[in-house]
Formats: sequence, C-alpha cells, structure tokens
Amino acid sequence: MVALKEKKTMSLRTPVTDLFGTEFPIVAGGLQFLADAEYVAACAKAGIIGFMTSNHFQDEKSLRNEICKTRELSEGKPFGVNIAMLPKSTEHERITQIMEIVVDEGVEFVETTGRSPEPYMPLLKGANIKVLHKVPGLKYAEKAQAVGVDMVTIVGWECGGHPGPNAIGSIVNAALAEERLSIPYLIGGGIGHGSQIAAALSMGASGVLLGTRFLASTEIGAHEGYKEALLKASENDTTISLWSVRNNARTLANETTRIVAELERANPDAGIAQLMPYVAGQILIDTYKTGDTSLGMVYAGQALGFVRESVPVAETVKLLIQQFNTARERLCSLSY
Ligand SMILES: Cc1cc2nc3c(=O)[nH]c(=O)nc-3n(C[C@H](O)[C@H](O)[C@H](O)COP(=O)(O)O)c2cc1C
Repeated sequence: MVALKEKKTMSLRTPVTDLFGTEFPIVAGGLQFLADAEYVAACAKAGIIGFMTSNHFQDEKSLRNEICKTRELSEGKPFGVNIAMLPKSTEHERITQIMEIVVDEGVEFVETTGRSPEPYMPLLKGANIKVLHKVPGLKYAEKAQAVGVDMVTIVGWECGGHPGPNAIGSIVNAALAEERLSIPYLIGGGIGHGSQIAAALSMGASGVLLGTRFLASTEIGAHEGYKEALLKASENDTTISLWSVRNNARTLANETTRIVAELERANPDAGIAQLMPYVAGQILIDTYKTGDTSLGMVYAGQALGFVRESVPVAETVKLLIQQFNTARERLCSLSY
C-alpha cells in the first residue's frame, strides 16, 4: 500500500506517454471550433496532449498563427494538430494544404480521422511526424495499423462526435483491440472517470482519449450558457442522427435533432441538402457564441454524465488521476 501511495506523485508511463512525452496517458481529441491554442496549451500544461483543430481556418496565415500561438502558450510542452477528413475526399477540400502547413511549421504530432491517412503517410513520416489515427471500429484500426500509423484510437458508440455505423461500445473495443492489434492503441468514447482509465489500461490499452469530459473546462472559449447546459445534461441527453447521409453523429438531443430525425425518416434518400439548413456549421458557431443549445448539431457524448462543474483542464486531470489511483488500489486489494 505504501508503494502505491508513493506512486501517486509519479507520472504514469505507457507507450502513450513515451510517444508524446506527456505525464499521463490521457489524450484530448480535436474539438471542432473549440480546441484552440488556449485549450490545447491548457492540456499541455496539465500533463496531457491536446490536438488543435485545423479544418475551419479559412486561410493559411490564420492556421499558421494559431499553431504558433499554441506553441508559445504551451511553453515547450507537447501539443498536436487535429486533421479531420470527410469519409470521401472532395474537390474543394484543403487536406493536402493543411498537411503541408503542419509539416512546414514543424508540428510533431497529428491526430487524423475521417478516412485512411494512407495517401499522406509519406509526407508525414518524411517529416518524422507521429500519427495518431482515430477510428470508430476495430476493422478500421487494423487498416490503420497496416498503413503505418504510430498509434490508433478506437472510439466506441458512447462518444461525442462521429461514432461510426457499428454501435460497438468502448468496453468491447478495449478487450478485442488487445487481441487484434500489435501497435499501441487508445480507447475513447464515454470516458470521463478515472476508474475507466484503469479499466482501459488493464484491458491492454496504452491510454485513453477524451472529448466530452473537457467541454465545460474554463479554457474552452464558448458562452457560459453552453457550459451550463452541459452541466445540467446527463448521459441520457444525447442522441444519434445523420444516419441517412452515412455520417451519423452523437449530439445533445434538441429541436434540431428532432427535426432532422423526422426529415431522415420521411425522406431517407434526400441526401445532405435537405438537412443543411439545420446542421450547417455556422449554427454551431452561433451556439458557442450565444449559449443557446436548442438549435444546431451540438456534439457531445454519454460522458456528459461526468461533467458536473466548469473547472480548468488541470483540475479535471488531477481528479481523473485520483480516481484512477482509487480504482487501482481497489483492484490491488482484492484477494483470492
Ligand atoms: C464538441 C465536439 C467536437 C468534436 N470535434 C472533432 C473534430 O473536429 N475532429 C475530431 O477528430 N474529432 C472531433 N470530436 C471527437 C473527439 O475528438 C473525441 O473523439 C470524442 O469526443 C471522444 O469521445 P467522448 O466525447 O465520449 O469523450 C469532437 C467531439 C466533440 C464532443
């Protein structure tokens, strides 16, 4: 027991902490419009790695500026850039340009998601960038492993954002991944308590990825009304829609998801055009500005059940580690 107590002050070394050079095997995934320099630097200073989202920057200069700002605020601690891709490449996307900027700015870590990063691996690996690829299912993780990513995150059905089509939960992913993958993996989706981190590590994961648990953090630059809505919400307050366009998303259940569900039921083949007036990104930007969560696709997952106060990221990390230690002690105290 004494040995356990002494370990509380130490870092928790796994392949995740070794790869990123962080204190704890916790990763803060990209959060569209929210994971900016302030938030990602707060993650860095809390001993974890965060990924700054890149897709919404309309021009090269503003993306470069945000990367520089993140580096400055992180004060030498590790950070990464999130590059979310659509399931199929489109004529007007700027993924190649973003990758080139990330390389040029000397970013060390990227989190890719959405589709296979295979076409970009030569560019990223040529620049010695470590690639953490995020997938919503084990079969995609096996493909990612085959194309040479450094690590893979498997997000389960509980996750905020895009849980994929397969409806498999994180506890199943965690144990199966240990059998099927040879590269280190992280488990995400529904994680918001340190006992879940202990569970994931004991099942073979090298770390965990969190999104929803950090949404109400003081460093998240969104309206207080938005954070209050998250604090009031529970694990029961999310829903999944956008099935008809094969890009299903878990968000807060609100007026928009009610309308979208009706439209998808009535016209399942009508495509994204019929839904755009309700799901456009600008509506979400307005939500973050005004705090009104009744409209828009307000991404959030079942880990909302753990989001009870708006505190700095570092405080949440500290709590998660305390809870992890309690769970670990519980296991260690079991006797036969
Ligand atoms: C508000 C919100 C925005 C997100 N935006 C992105 C994004 O831009 N890029 C990305 O790769 N993942 C995004 N995600 C997914 C998270 O990075 C992460 O995979 C997910 O939140 C993990 O599940 P959890 O919410 O249960 O912790 C988002 C999730 C949320 C809740």
